[in-house]
Amino acid sequence: TDLDTFIAGLPKAELHLHIEGSLEPEQMFALARRNRVDIPFGSVEQVRAAYSFSNLQDFLDIYYQGADVLRSQEDFRDLALAYFDRAAADNVRHAEIFFDPQTHTDRGIPFGIVAEGLLDGMAEAEARHGLTSKLILCFLRHLDEEAAFETLRQAEPWLDRIAGVGLDSSELGHPPEKFARVFARAGEMGLKRVAHAGEEGPPDYVVQALDLLAIDRLDHGNRSLEDPALVRRLAESGITLTVCPLSNLKLCVVGDLADHPIPRMLELGLAATINSDDPAYFGGYVNDNYRALAAQGRLSTVDIATLARNSFTGSFLDDADVAHHL
Ligand code: HPA
Ligand code: ZN
Repeated sequence: TDLDTFIAGLPKAELHLHIEGSLEPEQMFALARRNRVDIPFGSVEQVRAAYSFSNLQDFLDIYYQGADVLRSQEDFRDLALAYFDRAAADNVRHAEIFFDPQTHTDRGIPFGIVAEGLLDGMAEAEARHGLTSKLILCFLRHLDEEAAFETLRQAEPWLDRIAGVGLDSSELGHPPEKFARVFARAGEMGLKRVAHAGEEGPPDYVVQALDLLAIDRLDHGNRSLEDPALVRRLAESGITLTVCPLSNLKLCVVGDLADHPIPRMLELGLAATINSDDPAYFGGYVNDNYRALAAQGRLSTVDIATLARNSFTGSFLDDADVAHHL
């Protein structure tokens, strides 16, 4: 459709992308072969058939298992490059990508192998496509605060190449307050702060992320809409929300894209953006997410342009670089 052509042509930034969630089944098999790792699937079709989730935890169990094929610096480079090639094809000009170091260090893969491999892929993507990127180190919230502190210590030699810290994994039962001290330390170290909140967790987790983690950007944030005072606060502060329509559908955060909260968020004056989260698991990259939502007929071309514009203004690029993209 005309809207799809408009979407494809729009320059955009992607602000909510877990690089481990961009591992396509074909690449999972290729890396399993290269590293002689056993995987519990016989074919790419079997892998795709297993990607049916009823909540976040269902997905996380299979996502952490998939990451086991990632072993060498070259693996992390290839993973990142495969994502950047697809993002560039979607006219993504800048990406701020999450990685989960604990998923790897807990399997004996050194932090530096992961970080250097991803940084290699980022440099190659800029050379190949002119696509710029930043790295965001996510703490796994189902693990304890001391493990997060240990990860921050391991990251020290790379902190000049890491833009910020984030918080992901199982939300319910692991409120932001659990990580208040490690986020304060990250702030003292000059790192940006983001957190997943209000995906499955209640609006109070979003309030905690603002008050106790001092977040610069909110990942998901869907359930904020249940609290009118919180909505006013988010609108007045202008904080960016990184929303993920196909993820929300696959993880049953929304029952139907026809009811997706993004149009409502824009009406309420929230700085929403569209992102793919874990595209290999949720059935689409960033343009697929724009198209799926636009197909519901609740977004104007002005809304779509606003969402893309928000992705640059909500990025951690400096003002001159943002201006250059707008
Ligand atoms: N939520 C929480 N943790 C995650 C996600 C998500 O959507 N994707 C990868 N880790
Ligand atoms: Zn996410």
